[in-house]
Amino acid sequence: MQSGRSAYPALEGRHILLGITGSIAAYKAAVLCRLLKTAGADVRVVMTPLAKQFITPLTMATLSKNPILVEFFDPENGAWNSHVSLGEWADCLLIAPATANTLAKMRTGVADNLLLTTYLSARCPVVVAPAMDLDMYAHAATQENLRMLADRGVKIVEPAEGELASGLTGKGRMAEPEEIAAFVDSLLARAETHIETHDKTCDEKKKRLQGKRFVVTAGATIEAIDPVRFISTHSTGKMGYAIAGELARCGAEVILVSGRTNLPTPAGVERHDVLSADEMFDATVEAFAQADGAVMCAAVADYTPAEVSDTKIKKNDDELTLTLRRTRDIAAHLGARKGDRVLVGFALETDHEAANAEAKLARKNFDFVVLNSLRDAGAGFRGDTNKVTFIDRAGCEELPLLAKTEVAARIVEKIETLLF
Ligand code: CTP
Repeated sequence: MQSGRSAYPALEGRHILLGITGSIAAYKAAVLCRLLKTAGADVRVVMTPLAKQFITPLTMATLSKNPILVEFFDPENGAWNSHVSLGEWADCLLIAPATANTLAKMRTGVADNLLLTTYLSARCPVVVAPAMDLDMYAHAATQENLRMLADRGVKIVEPAEGELASGLTGKGRMAEPEEIAAFVDSLLARAETHIETHDKTCDEKKKRLQGKRFVVTAGATIEAIDPVRFISTHSTGKMGYAIAGELARCGAEVILVSGRTNLPTPAGVERHDVLSADEMFDATVEAFAQADGAVMCAAVADYTPAEVSDTKIKKNDDELTLTLRRTRDIAAHLGARKGDRVLVGFALETDHEAANAEAKLARKNFDFVVLNSLRDAGAGFRGDTNKVTFIDRAGCEELPLLAKTEVAARIVEKIETLLF
């Protein structure tokens, strides 16, 4: 019996099918299995043949308190390990670590081991936690496979940046077991109210926002000082791109007005690249004229140099004073003209978070504000996770630390409640 103080309350009594593939990160699957068990979940483990090289079936059997499944048949007695019944048994299929190889096979439907056949049969939500070297993760093939799987409803716990087994440093390290457990917990908590199967979710999502058009602003604007320097922020655009992708997955027509970022355009999204706050203002206002709503995620510069030098400003021994002029507030402009359209704003704060966000809600006439505080670990710029609070006129709703893709899904769900 678990007490009500479990960190993962939605896991209690749930059937989690833990898939382990051949990655060095397989050792973390032991910790993950323990967390799931401690939270009261019933865990069964399916390993790919290569995964056995990284962690022993004995370890996983001991921790999960269930026999480990690797082969289609038990070599001892010929008993058939039915992937269909495993898929039916599971409330969630969690593949952690998921190698580039397994992700590629999942995308194409290759069924050459028990884990893959189980995936193809599973009707429950499917979560993958990729783990691989940074170049493998960044490769267009892997990214395309992940996008395609996400389009089909597979949930992705994004890998973290850090030191990798290869000795290189970059993105590819499997998310920590605690983050993965929290991800599954919040997914299952939501699944109690939203019946989600990975295929069904996709079909239903496709219909939900069909016929609606949204504008999303994302990334950082660039305010030129001279041909070489500029003023900008640390925004990477990840949150806005995740929202644009999620809206498109739900069937909406999406115009993404994007400042500087290195991100690929999400599938099904029309992207307009801009540089300055002035350019973003013009592109967004034009797109909003034909839209049902807008999500203002961009980090727009509030000030821009009053004069831009045509030539590189050369240094001398004097101090340099730049005169900055205010830029136009895009969100406030839309807010004054929004009518019954939906307008969502962001507030990134370092102090007096709730008060500042409430002021923005009123000043810019947002329907709700997504507040993130730079004081929260895992929130804000660069990372793949975010910790946000929704603030509207009825009050506030604090969300746990989630992958940005999951935060995007929550934002889109909230938008839907305003539209319908
Ligand atoms: N925003 C905008 N146009 C601007 C400035 C901000 O559309 N020129 C939008 C942002 O995209 C965000 C919201 O307004 O959705 C709040 O942005 P933020 O920079 O936090 O607030 P500011 O209004 O700039 O206030 P402050 O700098 O005082 O925090």
